[in-house]
Amino acid sequence: MTKWDWDYLIQDYRVHRSVYTDSDIFALEMKKIYGDTWVYLAHESEIPNVNDYKTTYLGLRPVIVTRDNDGAIRALFNRCTHRGATICRMDKGNTRNFTCPYHGWNFANDGRLAGVPWKQGYETSFDKNELNLKQLAKVESYRGFIFGTINEDAPSLQDHLGNAKELLDEWIDRYDGEIVVRSNAHRMVLDGNWKFVFDNAADGYHVSFSHRSLLAVGNRYNNEKDKDMTYFGKNPDSSPMYVQYLGNGHVFLDQRPMYDQVGDRWEQQRPQPGREAYEKEIREEYQSQADHYLDLTAGAQMNLSIFPNLLIIGNQIQVIEPIAVDQTRLTWYATTVDNLPDEINTLRMRSQEDFPAFGEPDDVANFAECQRGLSIPEVEWVMFNRGYNVPDRQKVDERGVITAPVTDETPMRNYFQEWKRLLTMERSKVN
Ligand code: FES
Ligand SMILES: [Fe+2]
Repeated sequence: MTKWDWDYLIQDYRVHRSVYTDSDIFALEMKKIYGDTWVYLAHESEIPNVNDYKTTYLGLRPVIVTRDNDGAIRALFNRCTHRGATICRMDKGNTRNFTCPYHGWNFANDGRLAGVPWKQGYETSFDKNELNLKQLAKVESYRGFIFGTINEDAPSLQDHLGNAKELLDEWIDRYDGEIVVRSNAHRMVLDGNWKFVFDNAADGYHVSFSHRSLLAVGNRYNNEKDKDMTYFGKNPDSSPMYVQYLGNGHVFLDQRPMYDQVGDRWEQQRPQPGREAYEKEIREEYQSQADHYLDLTAGAQMNLSIFPNLLIIGNQIQVIEPIAVDQTRLTWYATTVDNLPDEINTLRMRSQEDFPAFGEPDDVANFAECQRGLSIPEVEWVMFNRGYNVPDRQKVDERGVITAPVTDETPMRNYFQEWKRLLTMERSKVN
């Protein structure tokens, strides 16, 4: 029994404000949502060499992702087994050992306690093996994406990805080469609950309102052809765009059907530093292939959200890191492709700087203002009723994937059911 009536708080078409504002519910989410399901940790290309590591979080738990001396990928709790200090305070690096800065206990990068200073001070039965670093129960990768969980009974990662797997494949297979994270990340902290970010990643309703100034700036630059995302303002529900609920909490918004001609994606890009000069070079060098290459500089036009914390947006990997009930860190990792010409990767980088710099501030402002609005106890509900019970708007296929017009709130309505399932799951070992 808990003090919450979850069926009251999470209904079919609305959720209670407290799931965004109650710090006890947040604490439960950090234990159970981020404890019972797979959580994205890192991309393999961030730790390409033996002894590379990066630090991250599983919910609120500090974690070190290492490629150990034997090349195995591990996720170690960043918590000294002596008195609890974090043993690694760097973002990333390369080392065979971590020495705790507090009293100098030394751990190998596979988690083994390798040594303690002045060992003669411990009783002879002291067994170092009992004080190895704790590790996540499972760590698995899918095509470079490393996930971990502390739930020993979790299904395989591929089962968890489910219907999101083939969309992730499509995102990766847009290129012949390998997708690589090699630049530093674009980080921001916002004053809002982490779920506002997840809600918004498959929200085709807000685009032409929230991002009006960005769209206007793009169109002012060159009016011959409307720029990227302007189409959200023109009868979006009768466009070929759509949203989907994929199962297991994962959701998808697809803008790809708006780009059917080769060269469209490039033409619809907003202004970028160096655009004209690079385009000239690329057209001279690649001739009839130039439009194909230029299109690859633009975003994938896929918003694939893998519950609870991984958002594939455009060409980027965005990670949600909850900090508190009303604070969230968002990190955008730009990607490059290892076998594309340098000019294309440079332009890809410019297009990946565009949205986090000019579009995400609109979203972040809305998240903070939603948090402020939801502080009013007398107005209880957050509505996800767009498309709900409206005849002929939703289709369910044989996989159980639900498809709806791009402005429908189908993704939010459905992922919250998975949220409720995880939060109320009895078998959780992390109570
Ligand atoms: S807390 Fe790490 S060595 Fe004491
Ligand atoms: Fe947005």
